Amino acid sequence: MASRNLSRRINSLLVKHSRLASQRRALSALAELPETHQMMKKTCRDFADNELKPIASQIDKEHRYPADKVKAMGDLGLLAIAVPEEYGGTGLDNLAYAVALEEISRGCATCGVIMSVMNSLYLSPVVNFGTKDQIERFGTPFVDGKKVGCFALSEPGNGSDAGAASTVASLEGDHWILNGTKAWITNGYESEASVVLATTDKSLKHKGISAFLVPKPIDGLSLGKKEDKLGIRGSSTTNLIFDGAAIPKENLLGTPGMGFKIAMMTLDGGRIGIAAQAIGIAQAALDCAIDYATTRKAFGSPISKMQAIQMKLADMELRIESARLLMYKAAFLKDEHKPYTKEAAMAKLAGSEAATYVAHQSIQILGGMGYVTDMPAERHYRDARITEIYEGTSEIQRLVIAGCMLKDYAQQNG
Ligand code: CAA
Repeated sequence: MASRNLSRRINSLLVKHSRLASQRRALSALAELPETHQMMKKTCRDFADNELKPIASQIDKEHRYPADKVKAMGDLGLLAIAVPEEYGGTGLDNLAYAVALEEISRGCATCGVIMSVMNSLYLSPVVNFGTKDQIERFGTPFVDGKKVGCFALSEPGNGSDAGAASTVASLEGDHWILNGTKAWITNGYESEASVVLATTDKSLKHKGISAFLVPKPIDGLSLGKKEDKLGIRGSSTTNLIFDGAAIPKENLLGTPGMGFKIAMMTLDGGRIGIAAQAIGIAQAALDCAIDYATTRKAFGSPISKMQAIQMKLADMELRIESARLLMYKAAFLKDEHKPYTKEAAMAKLAGSEAATYVAHQSIQILGGMGYVTDMPAERHYRDARITEIYEGTSEIQRLVIAGCMLKDYAQQNG
């Protein structure tokens, strides 16, 4: 009897121990990335230093879409990192995606947003909700950068309130007919397909929204003006204007009415991507500030010797590292197929606020040199700003975080 009890206790300890081992692995990924992810980080950093950093200022000045660099990222497998290999993707995980996107954005924020739209907003819904045939037509041809896609959710009258779509899709025979305007579409000009959210039954509000796979170009779809933006100026942003565009019935993604859920789940993953982009921009701004502070002399010594500058550097590092840990945690939870909506929103919020703060302080450290285009600090400042806006503003992230907290509280307290 005694030995049976002992053996039961030991068995339960072993179960606990194996859980502990997996929890320890999770914690160690936060403290030190696994070897494969470290290699990914190094590869992307080398690529960013050699191929992206040298051209980032030029593409910003010329508002030039970096087609050759997009192709190069595609060749490296960076546009489809978490897409399974059977569909031509790289077959890695979301932690690898976050690590890679941070490094790419550190070199060039424009390349960062293009990479994030391809991975998170375009390929992810296609692969997660598409049929095999849809993935073969709209996924696989897009994994290597020869073609890019886009994601069309926002509208001129509907940004944060994503459930209020007024673009309409009506079924006529074998085709869906699309009418309405989608706004702020990254990759709008270059993309050869789009995931489009449109309402198929307005009376059902968000439950009447459906998702569609729309090839581009197509009759009945025109593009608006190319937006003249404060930052990430190498990526195109425009409206998609649908005026009776017909797409085959089988291009519905998921089931009718599933579009809002598809959009929300897509944005959860997208927010990890924007956290990574923001942290990359923040790191670039900090790198620039440290370089400058250690070489610029004032009052007889490098300004990095001054406590006022050291206070700033410490605060900048603290915000970046805190946001990075939140991002790793969100990516890790996603990889473990655990809920991660709150963590993705926290990572995006912390990352984007770190980016705007750090880029601001970087200019402060550089003084006048931070305000002119001879140095990259002013570009980082401009590039950082959008990360607090797209894929959900900072205010929306706070709503998402509070919503999750209150839901958890209600569940725990009956
Ligand atoms: N995952 C799965 N389902 C979710 C979800 C999530 N993360 N969030 C909400 N839902 C579900 C809810 O469970 C609910 O389902 P039921 O109807 O079955 O109960 C339904 O969606 C409605 O939920 P809410 O009542 O919470 O929805 P809401 O209308 O109040 O909106 C919101 C919530 C968080 C404000 C949402 O509208 C939102 O995220 N807005 C911001 C939109 C955004 O990020 N836009 C960026 C555009 S993309 C971009 O930036 C383009 C680019 O190119 C870079």
